[in-house]
Order: sequence, then structure tokens, then C-alpha cells
Amino acid sequence: MRHLMSPLDFSVEELETLLNLAGDIEKHPEKYAHACEGKKLATLFYEPSTRTRLSFEAAMMNLGGTVLGFSSANSSSASKGESVSDTVRVVSGYADIIAMRHPKEGAPYAAARKLSVPIINAGDGGHNHPTQTLTDLMTIRREKGKLDNLTIGMCGDLKFGRTVHSLIKAMSRYENINFIMISPEELRLPDYIIKDVFEKKNIKYKNVRTMEEVMPELDILYMTRVQKERFFNEADYIRLKDSFILDERKLVDAKKDLCIMHPLPRVNEISTKVDDDPRACYFKQALYGKYVRMALIMTLLGVSADEDR
Ligand code: CP
Repeated sequence: MRHLMSPLDFSVEELETLLNLAGDIEKHPEKYAHACEGKKLATLFYEPSTRTRLSFEAAMMNLGGTVLGFSSANSSSASKGESVSDTVRVVSGYADIIAMRHPKEGAPYAAARKLSVPIINAGDGGHNHPTQTLTDLMTIRREKGKLDNLTIGMCGDLKFGRTVHSLIKAMSRYENINFIMISPEELRLPDYIIKDVFEKKNIKYKNVRTMEEVMPELDILYMTRVQKERFFNEADYIRLKDSFILDERKLVDAKKDLCIMHPLPRVNEISTKVDDDPRACYFKQALYGKYVRMALIMTLLGVSADEDR
């Protein structure tokens, strides 16, 4: 039995297999319509979500399985003081696989101990968001045709943005990735990622203050929202929230095949006028999230396509 806690839990070869499966599910959904018949997914979300929770639920339903769960701590017995490990232990008697989001870094790791069913980290505080990373890897591979030899600009809240932290760790395993960090001083990438990933692996990176100065270099521009919920004081959030707004004007010098990504939700950081630009990939990215989560559920449950059973 396996869990998914970190973007590094799968080897590069295993990721390749998983992304190939996601691609086949996208092309031939009918082959997988009964793969999880009789299985249940529990979604335990202690923090708000639209894409992750609903794409997990859609994924399980598309595989012929069923779903149960809660979408906020307030609607669960956490509001009465129940611990995460007790909740997960109980739910493991009701479901075959669990996806959990929690505002505290490490909560899913603690929950995974002694657990008899697979658990997936669906986002833990400002730490990791491995299934968003799977979504991002599928998007990059689909849009760029490769996962190596790319210049990736990451823009916005690099301090609290768990999708950024997870994607950097995952992309650091591919050849010749050049990272450009675009953020205000206060929202720069945490030191531990610079030391543990960039410095340890001798990976090229630089910090810049504007997206305009690096736009012509980028193959991928990964925009992020300033994470209001992780700020200690509202004045700082208000000062920083509109630090970067991508609009048509800023794309004038961009490559014709730039891939603009965003894990969503978007607040102001991408003008809606960019949505019709063929380089805008963020809504496709959200859709790929469903296919890759179908592939993940199948992999962790060890089930195969209908015709192979
Ligand atoms: N990208 C993402 O995690 O979105 P949600 O918060 O809506 O799940």
C-alpha cells in the first residue's frame, strides 16, 4: 500500500507511467468507466477547495466508484475537537482511499501513520500540493511536449504558494531546467527550497522583480495568487496582493509558444483579457487535473482498465 504525500514520492519513471495512463484516460474514457466499481473515495477537506475536491470526486465517479466526505472543518467533528488521526482512522473503515486537505503543514503525514488505506495529500498549508504538481506536469508535457530543457518563470507568492514549492521539487529532477523567480522581496521562495533544491542540485535560478524583464526568455509562465489565508496581517496582504498583474501588454515580447499556467483560483493576477490568448493554458490545466487524479486513484488502488481485468 502506498500514499502520496510529496511530489517526490513517485520516481521519474513511475511519473512517466502515470502521465501516460492519464493521457490514455483522456483519449479513451470509456475504457476506464468501471475500473473502480465498488470502491469509495473519501474527501476530507479542512480547507476550502473547488478544483481539487471536485476533480477528485469527478475522477472517482468517472471510474465507476462513489464518494463521501466533508468540505470544511466546521461541518465535521473536527469542530468538536476530534484529532485528524482519529478522523482518518475512522474514515478508513468507510472508504478505500482518502484525499485530505489541511491548513497545517504535515497533517496528512501524521494521519498516514498506521493507516490501512492509501491517503493522498491534497494540499497541506504552505508546504506541498502533490496532485496539483501531477496536474502541472501533465499540462507541461501536453503543451510543450517535454519536461526538460525549459525556462520556467514563477510569479507571485513564492513564499506561501505550495503549488510552486511542489512543482520546483518535481521539475528539479529533469534536465536543464532554468528557474526564474518573480516576486516582491517579502514573498520570495523559502530558504529551505533554495538550499535543498537549487543549491544542492546545482540548478540555475535567479530572482527578479518584474515579469517584463524576463518575458522573452520564458517557455512557461506560472502565475500564482497571493495567499491571503496564510498572512498574519491584513495590511501586508493588501499592500502585496496586486504586485503582479499579467495583461495583454506584458505579453507583447513573450514567445509565441509561451505556456501561461496558474493553479487557480485567480483573483486579479491575470487579466480576463488574457483568457482568449492561445497561450493561456490555465483552464485546460484544471481539466487535466481530473485525468491525472483518475490515473492516481487507479495507481494507488492497483486497479486496471476494464478490458485488462
Ligand atoms: N488549485 C487548487 O488547489 O485549487 P482549489 O483550491 O480550488 O482546490
